[in-house]
Amino acid sequence: MSSTIRRIAVCTGGGDAPGLNAVIRSVVVAAVNRGWECYGIRDGFNGILFPERYPEGGVFRLTKDRVRGIAHLGGTILGTTNKGNPLHFPMKMPDGTTKDVDRSGEILDYFAMKELDALVSIGGDGSLTIAHALAKKGLRVVGVPKTIDNDLDKTFTTFGFDTAVAFATECLDRLHSTAESHQRVMVVEVMGRYAGWIALHTGIAGNAHAVLIPEIPFDIDKVAARVVARDVDGHPYTIVLVAEGAEPAHGHREVVEAAEIGHAERLGGIGERVGQAIQARTGKDTRVVVLGHLLRGGSPTSFDRLAAMRFGTAAVRALGEGQSGIMVALGFPNVNYVALEEVAGRMKAVPLDSDTLQTARDLGIVFGD
Ligand code: F6P
Repeated sequence: MSSTIRRIAVCTGGGDAPGLNAVIRSVVVAAVNRGWECYGIRDGFNGILFPERYPEGGVFRLTKDRVRGIAHLGGTILGTTNKGNPLHFPMKMPDGTTKDVDRSGEILDYFAMKELDALVSIGGDGSLTIAHALAKKGLRVVGVPKTIDNDLDKTFTTFGFDTAVAFATECLDRLHSTAESHQRVMVVEVMGRYAGWIALHTGIAGNAHAVLIPEIPFDIDKVAARVVARDVDGHPYTIVLVAEGAEPAHGHREVVEAAEIGHAERLGGIGERVGQAIQARTGKDTRVVVLGHLLRGGSPTSFDRLAAMRFGTAAVRALGEGQSGIMVALGFPNVNYVALEEVAGRMKAVPLDSDTLQTARDLGIVFGD
């Protein structure tokens, strides 16, 4: 690893999030302005691990021209993947079994061979855990926190979260009128994995009547009681917002796909279960809406765009200062640096004593506890 930087690479890993392109653009512009060359790795690290899949190049030069006009676009021009973690790569064996193989050495070899001096890794918990492992093996790495779930520790927020909440809130606004017109219960399932940030923030902003989050195991009878109480009060419709990771106090989380080597389990289905249970208990016409991947698309809000640009340029400044093994994070009032080892493998759940949670309770939102 040379001490001066001339060439850096950037990659995006895990689920996409609005703001990825704004980070990519700001990394490239800030790096080129320092006289550095910048390269993009396609689809996480697949551009390095599977060069044969990319006849046009698994790693390609990113110039200012190449990133012009992308900051407002959803998705990522580099592509991404949440399968095939290079630290735990699923390799099919001749006997038909699958072996867990560490392919991170191939990434280090590639960086050495191409004289790439550093990596900016934009991702969530999985990608930053990989970044941490690569840093421990000697690669100069700076991480940028991304996820609509907002579940990364040591940063006030991740980019993508605000856009997801803004869109989900708009959906709730639309569902209020149809729920009220038909005097129905609308159950809305949102993403968020094992944290309830999206559901909580959307539930308050969008005036849900019940919000079910993984941090608070729920009793469906208490949720049904809220529906009935609203009817009695002369408000015969209810909006119930359910985080995909929510679970009943005496039950289990809903999983649609089990975890495999290099791939986390996929959650989903709790909305339907909650909807059926409410209808059975209250007799009310109930509909279920799953917002799912709609939360990951679209143009980043100005908040996320600004956060992305602050993160991207801070990552380049950090590399210029000789930093490695860190993540740029949103503190107050400035972006700061935190060690990747303090972030990797950790999750930021909604604190049960947070004022946001208390805000919801004070406004009459029930959590089923
Ligand atoms: O982490 C982002 C996220 O959208 C989670 O909220 C969700 O559980 C997961 O990714 C969905 O992953 P996939 O795109 O593989 O369905």
